[in-house]
Amino acid sequence: MIIAIPKERHTGETRVAATPETVKKLKGLGLDIVVETGAGASIRVPDTDYEAMGAAIAPNAADTLRSADIVLKVRPPGSDEIALMKRGAILAALLSPATEKDSIQKLADAGVDAFAMEFLPRISRAQAMDVLSSQANLAGYKAVIDAAAAFGRAMPMMMTAAGTIAPARVLVMGAGVAGLQAIATARRLGAIVSATDVRPATKEQVESLGATFVAVMDDEFKQAQTAAGYAKEMSPEYKAKQADLIAETIKKQDIVITTALIPGRKAPVLVTEEMVKTMKPGSVIVDLAAEQGGNCPLTKPNEVCEIHGVTFIGYTNLPGRLAIDASSLYARNLFNFVSLFVDKKTGEAKLDWNDDIIKGSGVTRDGAFVHPALKG
Ligand code: NAI
Repeated sequence: MIIAIPKERHTGETRVAATPETVKKLKGLGLDIVVETGAGASIRVPDTDYEAMGAAIAPNAADTLRSADIVLKVRPPGSDEIALMKRGAILAALLSPATEKDSIQKLADAGVDAFAMEFLPRISRAQAMDVLSSQANLAGYKAVIDAAAAFGRAMPMMMTAAGTIAPARVLVMGAGVAGLQAIATARRLGAIVSATDVRPATKEQVESLGATFVAVMDDEFKQAQTAAGYAKEMSPEYKAKQADLIAETIKKQDIVITTALIPGRKAPVLVTEEMVKTMKPGSVIVDLAAEQGGNCPLTKPNEVCEIHGVTFIGYTNLPGRLAIDASSLYARNLFNFVSLFVDKKTGEAKLDWNDDIIKGSGVTRDGAFVHPALKG
């Protein structure tokens, strides 16, 4: 079977779905690998490095995709790429299923069996394939590094002969995978860190990283976690209480990193314009929810701007700002996913649609939508 790695075409996408390391591992599964020329340029990997691990280099998208049985990508393929794929091909990528239903429809029409890596169930067997975690972890780290670079002061307390510099105060809103890494990174840089979330389980995690937990801990908070471990949309009453608490906390912060998301919905607004006006001039907000509408309505996706004296950082692809590490982890996630359904003895792909991982992430099959979240 042939597995293809086309060059990413989405503007600003620097990540790649395979590295020389994973090409070698895919070869070990008995697969033939075709990499489009230049696919690794953004992670400083020349064609010759892929070739050295056993890949064939194709000069264009058509030659890469024409015979592929499995296609690995970061972003969804465009219509031009879908037209080149053969019926029955398997695709694994970040398909943005919540917003990209039209492009998933095109994949169904083309008879491609597509897997949205965002939909992988968060079960322990799927941990090594969990692209949301591998990418969110890097995003949380980079958010703090970008904030520190934009902040006109130092992060740690410094006692010098010329006097003492106060440590920066960092508030992390949303203590999921990205938020916890942001807390850990800000702590390592010496900041005083506090964090907030609506899921009770996060209190202990936040405190174990040396940060202070700030949240309205009422009865609704105690029930705010779904069986899958995600946050629920909170009631207007809870949001009002939460807003009062944040309004009081935010005035004292130098850096705010927002990461709060609810799967499949617009991001909750946690930082209002009124709150921004109370922040000290020179403060920084990094809004990781920028692509989903932002946790602050002032955030401009993919822009760095200053509003009311506060610097807003709205990059929507923070993992892509660490393209080498992000690609390395993403490519391993995809390799682990592929090895789930490729028979190591024959090199043939066999999808078991009763497997929770296949069923959970499969969005199209034999020309139709199959995922419950996309039907109806
Ligand atoms: P996410 O990216 O969906 O959301 C980020 C954070 O925002 C979450 O902690 C959420 O509770 C929080 N949030 C939502 N609304 C909020 C509000 N109004 N105010 C403050 N915070 C708010 O979450 P992520 O990072 O994908 O993690 C979701 C869960 O999945 C976590 O429990 C995580 O530990 C778990 N997980 C489990 C894995 C496994 O393999 N078992 C792997 C990775 C994550």
